[in-house]
Amino acid sequence: ESYTINDIKEKGFIIVGHRGAAGHAPENTMASFRKAIELGADVIELDVHRSKDGHLIVMHDATVDRTTNGSGAISAMTFDEIRALDAGSWFGEAFKGELVPSLAEVIVGINGEVKVLIEIKWPKEGLYDGLGKQVAEEVHKYGAEEWCIIQSFDSKYLEEAHASGYNIPLQKLLVSQTSLFFVPFHKDNKFRLGRASVAHVESMNYYHKMINASLVERHHEEGLTVIPYTVNTTDEMIKVLGMGVDGVITNYPDVALALRNEL
Ligand code: G3P
Ligand code: CA
Repeated sequence: ESYTINDIKEKGFIIVGHRGAAGHAPENTMASFRKAIELGADVIELDVHRSKDGHLIVMHDATVDRTTNGSGAISAMTFDEIRALDAGSWFGEAFKGELVPSLAEVIVGINGEVKVLIEIKWPKEGLYDGLGKQVAEEVHKYGAEEWCIIQSFDSKYLEEAHASGYNIPLQKLLVSQTSLFFVPFHKDNKFRLGRASVAHVESMNYYHKMINASLVERHHEEGLTVIPYTVNTTDEMIKVLGMGVDGVITNYPDVALALRNEL
């Protein structure tokens, strides 16, 4: 069963700016988050790692190589070393001097203007010890529980965030349905597979090419939303919206907004 344009129109959908507006600005920088808001995102998505000296660093990869002028693993660098890098030039001269933000800086800078979807990542060697708890504590420290959401492919982080007791909404990232039963990222992950690992989440966020209308319907019956990633073209958006999804995570919030306005 799929949805008609009228169904989509009535229901509406949430626009999540992936790494900010990664199609328009250097991902995971304040410039990218500001751009996403300007282009109409309801939520901005970002990724978190941890520096050698324990700071929460907003970056997608486990190393600084691809998105800065430096090199090395985030987990082996200090906050000061990371802050000395240029996170904008690789994307374009206009963004020269953009800094790698800390999670605190983004929380303070956004201050509830839009929601912030915080994805907790992992270093090459496994998981960051206690990063789910640390991120939840940081959100709580700034009183941002109402407008921050924590998501991860890794259920251990979500369980830690839940156990913190701060009632921050949680969302589960998955590649496909089989990820519910087999999460191939870490060899120590086997013990936290299956439905129990998603007991406290409000949304199931899949790779957009791995979903269908019946999966979305099943999650809706369970009281869960479905917000696929990373949906970048109008055609792809129409396809997943036709399956009934509740929102899209996109590098192009402008494309999603134009579609939403057109419906
Ligand atoms: O928000 C979902 C999406 O960001 C997950 O994949 O690799 O872009 O972090 P990735
Ligand atoms: Ca992400």
